[in-house]
Amino acid sequence: MELSTLVQENLALVESWMSEVNFPLLDNPTLKEACLYSLNSGGKRVRPIFSLLVAELFQLNKERLQSFVTAVEMVHTSSLIHDDLPALDDDELRRGRATCHKVFGEGPAILAGDTLIAAAFSCLASASQVSPEEKVSWMEILSAATQALCDGQVFDLELEDAEKRRALLLLRHETQVETILRCHRKKTAVLFQAAALGPAVLLKGEGRAQGISFAKLLGEELGLLFQITDDLLDSKNEEAKPTVEFSLVSVLGIEKTKELILQKEALLLSSLAPYGVRAEPLAELIQQLARRDA
Ligand code: IPE
Ligand code: MG
Repeated sequence: MELSTLVQENLALVESWMSEVNFPLLDNPTLKEACLYSLNSGGKRVRPIFSLLVAELFQLNKERLQSFVTAVEMVHTSSLIHDDLPALDDDELRRGRATCHKVFGEGPAILAGDTLIAAAFSCLASASQVSPEEKVSWMEILSAATQALCDGQVFDLELEDAEKRRALLLLRHETQVETILRCHRKKTAVLFQAAALGPAVLLKGEGRAQGISFAKLLGEELGLLFQITDDLLDSKNEEAKPTVEFSLVSVLGIEKTKELILQKEALLLSSLAPYGVRAEPLAELIQQLARRDA
C-alpha cells in the first residue's frame, strides 16, 4: 500500500516504537523469536497509524499513545498468528512470508499469540504520560475489542460450515449481507474502533463525550471499509485459485461491493469536514485504504 508523506511520518514513529518491544519476561528463545517474528514481519501498521491520526485530529500529543498503539498492534498480531493456524484458516503464507506456525511449529505459535495478548496489557499498565484512570479505560477498550475479535472469528468459522452456509443462502439477500457485516464488525471493525477510542478517552472537558462518540463511529466505519476491501482483494486472488467462498463479494457481486466501499469512503470523508485541515492526513489514509491493492 502506497502511503502519502503525511501518513508516512506516522509509520516511522510506529516502527521506532515497535523496535523497542523485546519481551523481557520471556526466557525461551523460540517463544521470544516467534513473537518478534510476527510482530515485525512487514505489517502495514494501519491500526497504530489510524490511532495517531485520530490523536492529531484531537490535537493530542502523539507520544502519549506509544503504549496504546503498541498494545493494539500486539493484539492484532496475535489474531493473525491464531487465524493462520490449521484449526482456523490454515495458511502457510502471510505478508509473503511463512506463517508463525510454519516457522516455529503449532505449539509455539499458539503460545506466541497468547503471549502477545498478555504483553499488550503489560504494555498498557506501564504506559507513561497517562493517568491511572486513563490506563484503566484503555484496558477496558482493548479487552472488549479482543473479546469481540474472538467472538467474530468464531462466527467466521461457523460460516465455513457447509450446512450453516446452505441454510444462510436460503435467506433473503439483505439478511445474508447483514450476517456478513455483523461478522466483519466483530472480527475487524471493533479493533479499529478501539484504535480510535484510545486517543478519544484522553480528551478532557466539554468535547470529550462528543469526541468519544465520533471516534466510535469513525473507527467502526473505517474498520468495515477495511474488511470489505479485504474481501474484494481476496476475491481477486481467488480468480487464480477459486475456492467456494461466502463473502460480501459472493453475495453482492464485485460492482455492488465496490459501490459500498465508495459509499463508506464518502461518509467517512464528510464526517471529517468539521475538523478542517487537521483532518487531511486522516482523509488521505481513508482514501488509501478504500483504494488499496494489498
Ligand atoms: C489483516 O489485517 C487481517 C484483517 C483484519 C483483514 P491487515 O491487513 O491490517 O494485516 P497486516 O498487519 O497489514 O499484515
Ligand atoms: Mg479467518
